[in-house]
Amino acid sequence: MNLRKIENKVILPSMTGITKPAFRNLCIKLGAELTFSECIDVERSLINGYLTGLAVQKIYLNKINGLNGVQLIDNNADRLKKMVKIVEPYCDVLELNFGCPIGWVMRLKKGAYFSSRPNEVNKLLSKIIKCTNKPIIAKFRIDSDFNNTIKFAKICDTLGLAAIHIHIRTIEDWFCGETDPKIFREIKDKIEIPIIGNGGIKNKKDICKFLNSGCDLVSVGQSSIYNPLIFSKRICISFFCSLLHYYLVDFLENHTLLLDINKQKDGLQYKLCVRLKYVMGILSRLKRKLIS
Ligand SMILES: Cc1cc2nc3c(=O)[nH]c(=O)nc-3n(C[C@H](O)[C@H](O)[C@H](O)COP(=O)(O)O)c2cc1C
Repeated sequence: MNLRKIENKVILPSMTGITKPAFRNLCIKLGAELTFSECIDVERSLINGYLTGLAVQKIYLNKINGLNGVQLIDNNADRLKKMVKIVEPYCDVLELNFGCPIGWVMRLKKGAYFSSRPNEVNKLLSKIIKCTNKPIIAKFRIDSDFNNTIKFAKICDTLGLAAIHIHIRTIEDWFCGETDPKIFREIKDKIEIPIIGNGGIKNKKDICKFLNSGCDLVSVGQSSIYNPLIFSKRICISFFCSLLHYYLVDFLENHTLLLDINKQKDGLQYKLCVRLKYVMGILSRLKRKLIS
């Protein structure tokens, strides 16, 4: 699969507690062609070779369209290989997490522990890549020693990964603070595989900045939680109309109930609400007919 072919250049990254199927499907509906599952800790999710129910929930995506990306985290090649074999029939893209900065994760030598250890990544990835035909992406953070980041990117390139997904914040930056996408240019000049840029994108202008700095795709995390419309190419008029319709019907239902309870059924307000509710009903039936 060529990730460069993703038309809408904006994808949804993995966010534990957030990228559940309902949110992913909303983002897909609004234009995100590739969305990632919550992160699956392989060590905790494989018990006697079987996948736990929680991990199954993370992998499952009842999608109409859109690519299902599944994210895994571990430092053990054998365990990872087993997990890849189990999940590969259910996903389109696999992502390995080398960017999680959380203390207990790093103490277990997982996630961002690898940011400054590209050679260890090389050993791990070279074993995983051989065991599957699915595209594999490595997600990592920039290191305070930028040479490590370049080395990391070059390793992924040599191994022929489908892409690298770079969060342009260091471990110390955690998940916040302004970011400067100019550093992608330096990485882009040294590798061939696609770059997915991530970190601090708030609006369409930021997306353009990242794409103009050498990213092939971008991923939007925190900003997409309160503005999933960031995935749509145009302002989605039908989405706004549906939302407006929903709020209006909700308001009318509440208001007529209030007037009813307060015994004001004979007033003009009540009659107006009933008529408007009737019109809204006709509109939704019409919409349903048009869609079917
Ligand atoms: C609540 C939360 C959970 C996250 N969980 C994950 C995760 O499980 N795996 C991962 O690779 N990144 C995770 N991230 C990081 C995001 O994918 C993203 O890299 C980061 O938030 C920076 O992008 P942003 O500035 O657009 O939010 C998480 C971020 C947040 C805020």
